[in-house]
Amino acid sequence: MPLLPVQADENLLVGTEIPDDAAVYRLNKELALIQTVDFFPPVVDDPYYYGQIAAANALSDVYAMGGKPLTAMNIVCFPCKLLGTDVLVEILRGGAAKVAEAGALLVGGHTINDNEPKYGLSVTGIVSPEKIWTKGGVKPGDRFILTKPLGTGIITTALKADMVPAPVLEEAIHWMTTLNKEAAEVARELEIKACTDITGFGLLGHAFEMIRESDECGIVFFAGSIPIIEGTLDLAGQGLVPGGAVSNREYLLPNLLMQKKVDPLLLDLFCDPQTSGGLLLAVPEEKTEEALQLLRQKGLNPAIVGKATSENKGKIVLES
Ligand code: CO
Ligand code: CO
Ligand code: CO
Repeated sequence: MPLLPVQADENLLVGTEIPDDAAVYRLNKELALIQTVDFFPPVVDDPYYYGQIAAANALSDVYAMGGKPLTAMNIVCFPCKLLGTDVLVEILRGGAAKVAEAGALLVGGHTINDNEPKYGLSVTGIVSPEKIWTKGGVKPGDRFILTKPLGTGIITTALKADMVPAPVLEEAIHWMTTLNKEAAEVARELEIKACTDITGFGLLGHAFEMIRESDECGIVFFAGSIPIIEGTLDLAGQGLVPGGAVSNREYLLPNLLMQKKVDPLLLDLFCDPQTSGGLLLAVPEEKTEEALQLLRQKGLNPAIVGKATSENKGKIVLES
């Protein structure tokens, strides 16, 4: 039973009934509106990077639907008296820089006083109604390409305990501030059908959503091919695993088949909630080489992490 009434409207192409990355509303034959909102407390200490990360993360849901962001609005909760407006200005400058890089316009926002800072954006974008990427468009045989390495949940958790080596943090910040714009451009060029971005449910959780909505297939993951930010496994080994990774893993276990014994720390990593994670693209087999090549040309670190199968419908198989 849904908690909120399900709203049916012939122009509501993607709503709350089958949750996707963003809502999509058809304006006319050629044009549909994409709407999404995302905000969270600081994940890094530097306010400018925090602003960039929160904005890149919010913009990502438009890219994950195959769309282009047009306008964005700031959502801000901030203790001005405690932290001072200089810090707030840095956060907003970081966000504005990413909105500009996305080719979108920052057109307003709203700020309230709150003890713990939170920042993010509501983003409006457009897409052709024929070219929406949903989670449910996966076909057996499709290869799954991930465009950024995993590890940001574990790294930002370890950061709170001051346990992240500088180069590890630097790499995590690099990926979290990277827009999914160019990955989406490549995917649009190759006319893929299914995509999502990796955020709170981790790689396996979001992959599970895709195969559940696609109802035709299962998925095999190649554990050894999944890119990880160097140093993340060490941090996981020190117990710096966020609660979200544990609950994601618990949730997925009934639908997870492990062929051989997979290192439990790796499993935590595959379930690690990501902040501003990469796109997970379902790419027809014949286009995978071209996809990898184009994504690398854009400075991304893509990898084929798995494949959709007609066997094991609705299940995730983890091959070591
Ligand atoms: Co998303
Ligand atoms: Co989101
Ligand atoms: Co989508």
